Amino acid sequence: MNKTALITGASSGIGLELARIFAKNKTDLVLVARSENKLTALSKEIINSTGVKVKVISKDLSVLNNCIDLANELRNENITIDYLINNAGFGNLGFFTDTDLQKEIEMINLNITALTYFTKIYAKEMKLRGAGKILNVSSTAAFQPGPLMAVYYATKAYVLSFSEALANEFNGTGVTITTLCPGPTESGFLSAANMNNTKLVKGRKLPTSAEVALFGFNAMMNGKTVAVQGLMNKIGAQSSRFLPRKFVTSVVRKIQETR
Ligand SMILES: NC(=O)c1ccc[n+]([C@@H]2O[C@H](COP(=O)([O-])OP(=O)(O)OC[C@H]3O[C@@H](n4cnc5c(N)ncnc54)[C@H](OP(=O)(O)O)[C@@H]3O)[C@@H](O)[C@H]2O)c1
Repeated sequence: MNKTALITGASSGIGLELARIFAKNKTDLVLVARSENKLTALSKEIINSTGVKVKVISKDLSVLNNCIDLANELRNENITIDYLINNAGFGNLGFFTDTDLQKEIEMINLNITALTYFTKIYAKEMKLRGAGKILNVSSTAAFQPGPLMAVYYATKAYVLSFSEALANEFNGTGVTITTLCPGPTESGFLSAANMNNTKLVKGRKLPTSAEVALFGFNAMMNGKTVAVQGLMNKIGAQSSRFLPRKFVTSVVRKIQETR
């Protein structure tokens, strides 16, 4: 019998590419995002090319009750989750006084609350079975504060800190928790966050979502705790540990400004 992966944010970018990789590795899928049409198109492509089972669930995961409904639906259908990929997330560029509070509350609900909820439900079940893997998608944003994207950077710092702590708690249980930290990546994320004209990304050749997804998949399968994608991102993440925090924050401010 195939194992099953639950992937949030599977309708585009890194989540979509992770779905293709899991399917190629003969894993059945539960694909979640809001865009039902995109999920259905992806599920048809995957079923035709690999023959694995795919269940599509269209939900807004920034609403906790929708996360609870989703977990109940899977439980009622006796679907066991062997791999949990908490990938859905978004950001938003702008001065904190100018940005929309409602959007930021939704960001916290999605990037933090939904991720924590699904981890709670499935990590417990995995621990009882003594097997399972969780991939929580954070960002290189997790390693320092992010002026002009203050809430987003803080949500990703939460994901990193939370997941590293759990990785330690789950040592020796047969369950692994991996945090994927991509840097800027080609996907729908940058335009959704209004970041295309920032110095951080404009004119730069970025890794594709497929490259980042494969890197994350391998890290998860190898039970790595923290996986920073790309050499420059690794150097950036390490250097923010020993450089003065105020200096690092001012550098982030500069690269988040538009060209
Ligand atoms: N791309 C980058 O530069 C970058 C860098 C570092 C970290 N990341 C992280 O990587 C993860 C994946 O992002 P991506 O780059 O692949 O971006 P993306 O192409 O914009 O994909 C985001 C996914 O999340 C889903 N999503 C957004 N809001 C949702 C909601 N309220 N409920 C359910 N699903 C929702 C989207 O689907 P629907 O719109 O259909 O709901 C989509 O499938 C995110 O956590 C992001 O923070 C990205």
